[in-house]
Amino acid sequence: MKILGIETSCDETAVAVVVDGVKILSNQIASQVEIHARYGGIVPEVASRQHILAIIPVLNQAMAEARTTWGDLDGIAVTIGPGLAGSLLVGANMAKAIALAHRLPITGVNHLEGHIYANWLVDPSPDFPVVCLIVSGGHTDLVLMRGHGDYVVLGRTRDDAAGEAFDKAARILGLGYPGGPAIERAAIDGSAVSIPLPRSWLKGSSDFSFSGVKTALLRLVEGGIISSPADAAASFQEAVVDVLVTKTVAVAREYGVRQILLAGGVASNKLLRECLAKNSPIPVLVPAPVLCTDNAAMIAACGYFRFKAGKVDDLDLDVVPGLKLA
Ligand code: KG4
Ligand code: ZN
Repeated sequence: MKILGIETSCDETAVAVVVDGVKILSNQIASQVEIHARYGGIVPEVASRQHILAIIPVLNQAMAEARTTWGDLDGIAVTIGPGLAGSLLVGANMAKAIALAHRLPITGVNHLEGHIYANWLVDPSPDFPVVCLIVSGGHTDLVLMRGHGDYVVLGRTRDDAAGEAFDKAARILGLGYPGGPAIERAAIDGSAVSIPLPRSWLKGSSDFSFSGVKTALLRLVEGGIISSPADAAASFQEAVVDVLVTKTVAVAREYGVRQILLAGGVASNKLLRECLAKNSPIPVLVPAPVLCTDNAAMIAACGYFRFKAGKVDDLDLDVVPGLKLA
């Protein structure tokens, strides 16, 4: 089954063609990062205008790269939420137009569910039950997945998401936007032991909290105590990764899962990938970095499993900016 995936929930215009939820024929991404970097963060109105400019060229590139015609496609999968309303609308309307014109079935995909399915592009048959740590700019969720489409959210952040914390810490340290890759780059030349930062363990709960470590960093910078942004970046990265890894492994043990899956933009962080693999007694799956950050291959992969489960939507499908996973 050949599925066209479309993703425009935030600041990447992405289109992909994936076969049977596991084999990528094309994966095109037009990033707006340089445009938003000028403002130090995403400007929603600018994002939706850019999606309008980019969507047709990106669609044409994805179809050409996959050497696919409209007649070869079996369905369209599109992100309907969570995300920015104006951005989501561009992808959803494009998907509906294609579905109508070419009489193709359409399915609306939850962006977070899409992030999880990036793992099927690494290993076509993860062993259920699994625990998935989704770490993105807007979410930090620990999810128990007992089968396709079957999710129980075991823990989530009570304040900042992990990616949001990286972005805010980078701003505090003057390292630029997006913050995750900037912190990771700066940390290479730093030492994590020189600046001790606190960890919020929230004992007895699988939830997370990252606003405390961010505020601690801010206080140290305001107090003129930090002389090396590289040391501060390394300490911050280690504090966040320490909590993410420890809580994920604890939940995986508690629920006796067979595998741990990593997903979302922060999952492209090398320290997180390495620490989780090193500290987990349970096999860990991690998608390639380009499949961790926003892309449409993961949406097409998820769409395939939705179609297989009979989850076809009507053409009155609408976007849901606050869509929840479970
Ligand atoms: O999943 P994603 O691409 O978009 C959302 O759905 O939010 O995640 C974006 C987030 C941003 O906060 C970005 O700073 C963070 O992922 N990120 C990273 C890295 N690459 C992206 N955080 C830490 N280390 C990275 N290498
Ligand atoms: Zn995302």
